[in-house]
Amino acid sequence: MTKKIALIAASAASMTLAGWAAHAGDPAAGETQFRQCRACHMITAPDGDVIQRGGRVGPNLYGIIGAQAGAVEGFRYSDELVAAGNDGLVWDRENFIAYVEDPTGFMREFTGDARARSPMNFQMRSGADDMYAYLATFSD
Ligand code: HEC
Repeated sequence: MTKKIALIAASAASMTLAGWAAHAGDPAAGETQFRQCRACHMITAPDGDVIQRGGRVGPNLYGIIGAQAGAVEGFRYSDELVAAGNDGLVWDRENFIAYVEDPTGFMREFTGDARARSPMNFQMRSGADDMYAYLATFSD
């Protein structure tokens, strides 16, 4: 009897934890998932410390959360993303998740141009909230 109550209490606690993780995102899971981004992105701190090795097809993602879109110095963006940043696009949670799940769809919606295309030729199928939590650890 006592055992059963303890079990119920334990499962209620783990459900609460799972619910919290689903909402907040799990940075450790995001770190593992970064292998999906590595072909095109690295994470390099301003002091040159390489946190994640990666390609240069896309910009360095250090500090990207909370940053204006299209603004990493030295990276050649699409004109659309630079314009979106100048129009106020910032990588908050909602925008980041929508973008990495469907960059072209996001750009079409944000610009109102049904023929806009994103050069980020990749879609995250799951775990975008975990990726957000991971990348947020490199922002203030
Ligand atoms: C096939 C290459 C490729 C892959 C894989 C890729 N990206 Fe990108 N990403 C790009 C390119 C290219 C851009 C620049 C888009 C533009 O100029 O409009 C970009 C832009 C971004 C931006 C906007 C950056 C800014 O400065 O505004 C974010 C955020 C981003 N990527 C996150 C990710 C994450 C997270 C992953 C992995 C889950 C990922 N990308 C995987 C190529 C890629």
